Amino acid sequence: MNVVLTEEFAAKQFDDELLFDLMSTNIATQGYSIHPNSLPPTLLYKLHQHVQTMPDNNFKRAGIGREDNLMVNNFVRKDEVCWINGESDAGKAWLDWAADLQRYLNRHLFLGLFSFESHFAHYSPGDYYKKHKDAFKGQANRVLSVVVYLNPDWIADDGGELVMYHDETQEEILKVTPGFGTIVAFLSEEFPHEVLPASRDRYSIAGWYRVNSSGIDKVDPPR
Ligand code: OGA
Ligand code: MN
Repeated sequence: MNVVLTEEFAAKQFDDELLFDLMSTNIATQGYSIHPNSLPPTLLYKLHQHVQTMPDNNFKRAGIGREDNLMVNNFVRKDEVCWINGESDAGKAWLDWAADLQRYLNRHLFLGLFSFESHFAHYSPGDYYKKHKDAFKGQANRVLSVVVYLNPDWIADDGGELVMYHDETQEEILKVTPGFGTIVAFLSEEFPHEVLPASRDRYSIAGWYRVNSSGIDKVDPPR
């Protein structure tokens, strides 16, 4: 086989592997992984450019629950979302990166991640998402949550932190500042979390890997 690796391509592969390795180790040992300023720069700038130039009306009020149970609930969450389907260059680059991470984690952690769904999210100043979990035990649905932040020059005073809690004690584990290129991953069934209000517009991507829970009498679509 004749494999030609350009230097740039080889460097990118190397960086991704280092990051994926850290994420995989953290997830195995503590169930979550947080990496400030770590999304590959080319991808990060593409995604940032994309959310900045997207028409406002691409974003729709987020719901809670799935399919016919979907409700818009003002009390729980106020953000607006736009699902990523890979039609844009930026969306496609993101889904490629997420697929690389999926392959890596399946190889190293045997998580059996089967599909991935994700959306851009926009929190206007004052918006929040109250404490919640992304999945519930025994439902064989969302396994791993991933969030990345697209906010250049975010400072602590801007607020908008992601707060993670212990499931049993409900004690706070840590607060994450939604800074440019920060990546957060955590086991969806294990960690209640919330988004605090910010004083400026807050952009992120939230995504979820699922296992395949299709059975003979049940077909489980990605979302
Ligand atoms: C979510 C979520 C966290 C964040 O969309 O389910 O918890 O920091 N997002 O944006
Ligand atoms: Mn969540």
